[in-house]
Order: sequence, then structure tokens, then C-alpha cells
Amino acid sequence: MKNARRKAKDNDKIGRKFRSEATEKQAAKARQSERLIERLEVIDEPRKEWQLQFSIAPAPRSGEIVTVARAASVSRGDFTLGPIDVQLNLRDRVAVTGPNGGGKSTLLSLILGRIPPDTGLVSIGNGVVIGEVDQARALFEGEDPLVVAFAREVPDWPTAEVRTLLAKFGLGVHQVMRPAASLSPGERTRASLALLQARGVNLLVLDEPTNHLDLPAIEQLEEALESFDGTLLLVTHDRRMLDTVRLTRRWNIEAGALEEITPD
Ligand SMILES: Nc1ncnc2c1ncn2[C@@H]1O[C@H](COP(=O)(O)OP(=O)(O)OP(=O)(O)O)[C@@H](O)[C@H]1O
Ligand SMILES: [Mg+2]
Repeated sequence: MKNARRKAKDNDKIGRKFRSEATEKQAAKARQSERLIERLEVIDEPRKEWQLQFSIAPAPRSGEIVTVARAASVSRGDFTLGPIDVQLNLRDRVAVTGPNGGGKSTLLSLILGRIPPDTGLVSIGNGVVIGEVDQARALFEGEDPLVVAFAREVPDWPTAEVRTLLAKFGLGVHQVMRPAASLSPGERTRASLALLQARGVNLLVLDEPTNHLDLPAIEQLEEALESFDGTLLLVTHDRRMLDTVRLTRRWNIEAGALEEITPD
């Protein structure tokens, strides 16, 4: 009950921010969220669907060191990132900020081992299971019905469980039978979050997630991040998201140089 009250209050805070920041196009969706939020205030306990809408199941924990870069640099055209010296530890929750073109996405590619360093070294820890919403989303861009595309990624799962999981993410019969490519960006993002939950991840990487999400999906993502107990790398320009998501470190990247910002 205590927990339920706290959640309702948090949701209200988010709701107020939605109201002030929503664009006209998003206003209808924001109103829909408001209605949900208002309902939370008048009932004793949030409804189960809302409360359990989703959480991201962690994979078995990784080692203490998730990834480490030593004097690592990489060039792309005229742009050079680094040399970078940084260590990401188990359960760090890092916000990566900086101007457009500063090198945020390149840093992720480098420290996740997607692109080899030109100089220095990068090493990924044992047992690290990386989950990326964007990567997962790419799986849902084909002509197969969503439920088919999803089931292919979790071959051990009975169809009924796939349907139940997708339904928890607000993807019901109207969505799951349609070609995945015809779903909205927010729907595809919810499907990819469902897939991360199904697979279990211990390093969640989000590069500008709010660019692709509708407001209910952002709210769901923020809730999921709260309960996620693995390591988090979050690139975002979204002030509200920076304020809402629990973070332990902040890296700022400008013109290819990484600076760790320590709270004063
Ligand atoms: N494949 C590539 N070839 C050439 N240049 C590239 C390539 N990828 C990125 N760059 C350049 O590297 C620089 C850093 O890009 P990066 O995508 O890492 O920045 P970012 O901080 O993620 O920017 P944004 O906020 O716009 O996402 C940019 O100047 C970009 O044009
Ligand atoms: Mg980027």
C-alpha cells in the first residue's frame, strides 16, 4: 500500500511534466496518460496491469568490470574520438550527454566492441549480455506478423506466452497479427522492450530512446529502468528523462573528448 501510494505520486509528477512538455500531436496521448494517472489517485491500489506493465528481467549478473577502454581512439572520416580511458562497472547507471556530433554514439560502438579501436584497447567483461532497444527494433521491420517475428527470437517460448508477454506491453490482437513493419514506432519499441525482457539483459544500452517513443512508451520505459538492476548506458538530450531516471554517473562528450562529470 505504501508502495502503491508512492508510485501514484511519482506518476503524478511525470504527468505534470507531460502536460507542460507535450506537443500538440502528442497531446491526445498525454490526455490518455492523464486519465490513467488520475485514476491512480482515486483508487486504493494501482491496477495490476499498470503496476506490472513491465519490468526488464535481468540476465545472470556480469562480472564487476563490464567494459574498459585504455587510451582507445577511433576515427571516422574527419572525426576522432578519444583517446578514451574509462571503466564501466557492474550496476553503474551512466547518462551520456553532449552536443550533436560530439561522439556519443561512436563511444557506445567503441566500448561495446562494435568497432575496433584504431589505437589503445577495449575489453568487454565476462558474461555481459547487451540489450539494445534499437537493435531489437530492427527485428520488427519485416512483413511477418509481429507475433511470428517475436516468436522467432524466443524459439523456446510457447505461442500463448509470447501473446501474454506482448499483451503486457500493450500489444494485443490488433497489433500482433499485423506485419511488424506496419506498427507505429512506439509499438515497435514496446515490442523490442518485451524482447529484452524475454531474453534478459545485464547491460542495457539506450541511444536517444525518446526520439522514437510515444509518451506512454516513454513512461513505461522510465518505469522499467527504475526496476532494472543491471548496468545502464543512457544517451539522452531529454532533460526530463535525465531528471527522472536514477543515474550514478554522467559522461559528457564534446568534439570526441570524454569528460566524467562528478556531482559537486
Ligand atoms: N560512418 C561514419 N563515417 C564518417 N563519419 C562518421 C561516421 N559515423 C559518425 N561519423 C561522424 O562522427 C562524428 C560523431 O558522430 P556520433 O554519431 O558519434 O555523434 P553523436 O554525439 O552520437 O551525435 P548525435 O547527437 O547527433 O547522435 C560526427 O561528426 C559524424 O558525422
Ligand atoms: Mg548519436
